[in-house]
Amino acid sequence: NRVVLAFSGGLDTSVILKWLQQTYNCEVVTFTADLGQGEELEPARAKAQMMGVKPEHIFIDDLREEFVKDYVFPMMRANAVYEGTYLLGTSIARPLIAKRQIEIAKMVGADAVSHGATGKGNDQVRFELGYYALDPDVKVIAPWREWDLTSRTKLIEFAETHQIPVSKDKRGEAPFSTDANMLHTSSEGKVLEDPWDEVPDYVYSRTHHPEDAPDTPEYITIDFERGDGVAINGEGMSPATLLEKLNEYGKTHGIGRLDLVENRFVGMKSRGMYETPGGTIYHIAHRGIEQLTLDRGAAHLKDELAPRYAELIYNGLWFSPEREMLQAAIDHSQAHVTGTVRLKLYKGNAWVVGRKSPFSLYSEKVVTFEDDAGAYDQKDAEGFIKLNALRLRLLGRRGA
Ligand code: ARG
Ligand code: SIN
Repeated sequence: NRVVLAFSGGLDTSVILKWLQQTYNCEVVTFTADLGQGEELEPARAKAQMMGVKPEHIFIDDLREEFVKDYVFPMMRANAVYEGTYLLGTSIARPLIAKRQIEIAKMVGADAVSHGATGKGNDQVRFELGYYALDPDVKVIAPWREWDLTSRTKLIEFAETHQIPVSKDKRGEAPFSTDANMLHTSSEGKVLEDPWDEVPDYVYSRTHHPEDAPDTPEYITIDFERGDGVAINGEGMSPATLLEKLNEYGKTHGIGRLDLVENRFVGMKSRGMYETPGGTIYHIAHRGIEQLTLDRGAAHLKDELAPRYAELIYNGLWFSPEREMLQAAIDHSQAHVTGTVRLKLYKGNAWVVGRKSPFSLYSEKVVTFEDDAGAYDQKDAEGFIKLNALRLRLLGRRGA
């Protein structure tokens, strides 16, 4: 029997690899996704090989373009934000990893899949809902819910007994929990567990401190076509390249840092710190182009759907009929979301300072405070207000 493990090459999944071999006496196939986490992935290959995984059973796949084009961009079309702040950087990557893992399982004839998420979190739910949606009969092994390595201390002991290298972070402690991809880096646990304590500077890894960001603002433009970013400063580029480029701008100007306490699907609150540099700029820009190109009715309905959609992504329901239904509506709304947004980047912030579109619904002629040459008849507003006031006046006359 064979099992496909989602293997980052880090401490936890290395321990899991060894543990699966020992406990299930099975052949482990490793899958390492390149989602633009900015880490060397060859060490993962070397580690897997060292632990006896056959070369043809080590999969390292570059999923960066697919990730941005088919997951991040569709989510951004929805303006999805969880609990008003979180741009879902980890949540949106899990379904893609699950999908590829199931594909590999089918390729190598494995009947089981495994992951390194704990039994306390969201990620276990996201991985496993993805697995079951795509292969209803797959066997899932979640070591964190099974083994007796009930603390990080025990985990590190296990690693040391089995000659698995343990990396130390800058402070010489065992690393806190992070997850990174092209959209964001998350940090949770350890020094972050007291929500009263400010996140120490050394936890940030991919944005400059806003206070140290350049003293002069920078202006950029992003072009959108049917709701997706296609160019920066007029230069066309692929989805992943575009997000990568925005990450550089965001890093320089310290944009997209977030310290929050969120509600996990399993019911507990957790404190985390996220850095979403390019994604934050993109999100603001996308809203900017929608201001000009979406009708009010469509825009307001989208704003109602967005928290619903965000919750589905957060709770791991990417592969669900309700997410697909919402996606169809959202994608439909983007038909004219085409044009250019100009942004100002400065010390932790990104503002929309200009927007234009060939499909703009904005009419200067109608809205102007100057003479509109008959474009709008102000007298029409009188009846409009009177009828809207009718019920308020009836109520007012009746009294309390
Ligand atoms: N709390 C965030 C979420 O649920 C981030 C999770 C980070 N996951 C991790 N394995 N470190 O989306
Ligand atoms: C984990 O529990 O593995 C990470 C945190 C989460 O999934 O919410």
